[in-house]
Amino acid sequence: MEKNKFKVSSWNEWDPLKHVIVGKADNCHIPPPEPALDAKVPENSDMKGKWGKRPQETIDKGNELLDNFSKMLEDRGIKVDRPTPVDFSLPVSTPDFTTGSQFGCMPPRDVLLTVGSEILEATMSYRCRWFEYLCYRPLLKKYWEDDPNFRHESAPKPRLTDEDYHPDYLSEKIGEQKRLEWAAEKFFVTTEEEPLFDAADVLRFGKDLVVQHGFTTNKKGIEWLRRHYSDHRVHAVNFPGDPYPIHIDATFTPIKPGLILNNPKRRLPDDQRKLFEKNDWEIIDAAPPAHNSPPALCYSSVWLSMNVLILNPKTVCVEKSEVYQAEQLDSLGMEVVEVDLRDAYAFGGGLHCCTADVYREGKCEDYFPNQN
Ligand code: ALA
Repeated sequence: MEKNKFKVSSWNEWDPLKHVIVGKADNCHIPPPEPALDAKVPENSDMKGKWGKRPQETIDKGNELLDNFSKMLEDRGIKVDRPTPVDFSLPVSTPDFTTGSQFGCMPPRDVLLTVGSEILEATMSYRCRWFEYLCYRPLLKKYWEDDPNFRHESAPKPRLTDEDYHPDYLSEKIGEQKRLEWAAEKFFVTTEEEPLFDAADVLRFGKDLVVQHGFTTNKKGIEWLRRHYSDHRVHAVNFPGDPYPIHIDATFTPIKPGLILNNPKRRLPDDQRKLFEKNDWEIIDAAPPAHNSPPALCYSSVWLSMNVLILNPKTVCVEKSEVYQAEQLDSLGMEVVEVDLRDAYAFGGGLHCCTADVYREGKCEDYFPNQN
């Protein structure tokens, strides 16, 4: 970045990172039940039936870790911005629905999608997250004022009526086997009523965008992205081994040009590998997680082990306790930066989730010249 010249730009997940948003755990709430969220909480989870503000001491601990992570990035010369939390205890009410509280703003990756000089606010697919973009508006306003080329976009706000969700997903005791069958058939909790997507279902590979079809992103959401990013090629993928397919970043993790880690329990189906194979990209199994279970009151799975933040094609941030993932990345020739973040996972995810790109060096490249 030219000195003193502020710029929004990021085309992929690995080019040298110079400016990033890191989320906050402030006032984070466990939202009350709602269709899309119920379907994500596993039947044996300690979160079933609980909602309200999370315990303050856990919020303080989460914030301490997020602050330390931000400081470490700044020490490496990366500019860090933080969101402005809104009052998440307030209900979300529109003419179409009401839900008792909001969620939080620890995972900006879920909401903001940076492609080139544009940051797009995703539709989101949970009612409790309908207003989450407000936490980022002070930053986006500033970026808009400081960078004459910055495009601030917002996808059409969805109505999120009951028509958006399959009611059968709500019935009790579906069981994991049934969920896996449904995932393989691409029958998810969200319907095709209107376009829905969360930004964390999208991975950026220069000219190509890879989007997970699952609970939080439907086919119309992918089609909306295809029409919106008309200079890009948008590829839909799905991962049948995931009974709760929400967000792609604990499933499929590009590390640098030519190399992707794939969750071995959620392998990309053969027919969807062609694009990568034809262009000499290697997809390898990620190392196993170091933990048998997620931390308390956490939505995500143990596979946040592979939810890493790439600082540049030679350097990657890995959660400190994830020793196997760190070892694997080290053996792949990466410099591994350990970051203590596990006690912040419950607020919305890992190192990739809790960040959103503002500026990475580099241009829009074509990494997949041989298309299917
Ligand atoms: N849905 C992702 C997982 O928990 C983040 O694995």
